[in-house]
Amino acid sequence: MTLIDGKKIAADIRAELSAEIARFTRETGKKVGLAVVLVGEDPASKIYVRNKIRACEEVGIYSASYTLPADATQEAVESLVGSLADDSSVHGILVQLPLPAHLNAERILARIPSQKDVDGFSAENIGRLACGKNGIVACTPLGVMELLRRSHVNLSGKYAVVIGRSNIVGKPMAMLLLNADATVTVCHSHSDHLAEICSRADILISAVGKPHFVTAEMVKEGAVVVDVGINRIDGKLVGDVDFESVAEKAAMITPVPGGVGPMTIAMLMKNTLICARGLQI
Ligand code: GUN
Repeated sequence: MTLIDGKKIAADIRAELSAEIARFTRETGKKVGLAVVLVGEDPASKIYVRNKIRACEEVGIYSASYTLPADATQEAVESLVGSLADDSSVHGILVQLPLPAHLNAERILARIPSQKDVDGFSAENIGRLACGKNGIVACTPLGVMELLRRSHVNLSGKYAVVIGRSNIVGKPMAMLLLNADATVTVCHSHSDHLAEICSRADILISAVGKPHFVTAEMVKEGAVVVDVGINRIDGKLVGDVDFESVAEKAAMITPVPGGVGPMTIAMLMKNTLICARGLQI
């Protein structure tokens, strides 16, 4: 079994990006700029935002973070995002999710122009992905593809199963795999025969959010297993995959922490640079 070291691969990517970002600044006289908006006090979101800001510092991206109180009004958040949309020193805008329940997230995200949509959540960017066209792709599924690519996993003609159908991970993940010529099945909480489908996968990607969800019986001998889950048990971070037992069957597996997580942030840095260069459509 080979452990896919996301921490190491993400560090390599950040080093490559640092050089590209320095070159961008040399050639254009501009700094690459990312604005991060956090509303409220969600502890996990605060950690994610802090890690994103730290990664910006490391690669040479200028970051501005905006923290609004949990009771911020819809108008206040929309107006902030609107002003960032109009600010030419801001190349990428990220609104950390989830937003407090009283806010209409869709309307807030709609204020991010697709050229500054570093999360790849806009209808336009999702449409581009669905058509196999150039665009900004959501950071987590993009990070999974980069992990697979740098681990020399061949996708063409292979059977890939994605567990989870979220707009942020499962659906874009499936489209990326399809665009890479894999045969793709998306399973979810209502799927019949889920274990049996998973057990036929050459590449199994879990984005469920339930600890120990993927057990050894669900995994084919020699499969590549990617664990996108981030769950906390007694303050300890665990994925969706029952790592000990699955690692014995898998040819390759990603750990949690140190697998997909660091790649998500590296891809955010990459998407911000793409936005600064101006998306080539
Ligand atoms: N919350 C959890 N994951 C994400 C992400 O990828 N982007 C944003 N904006 N919020 C998130």
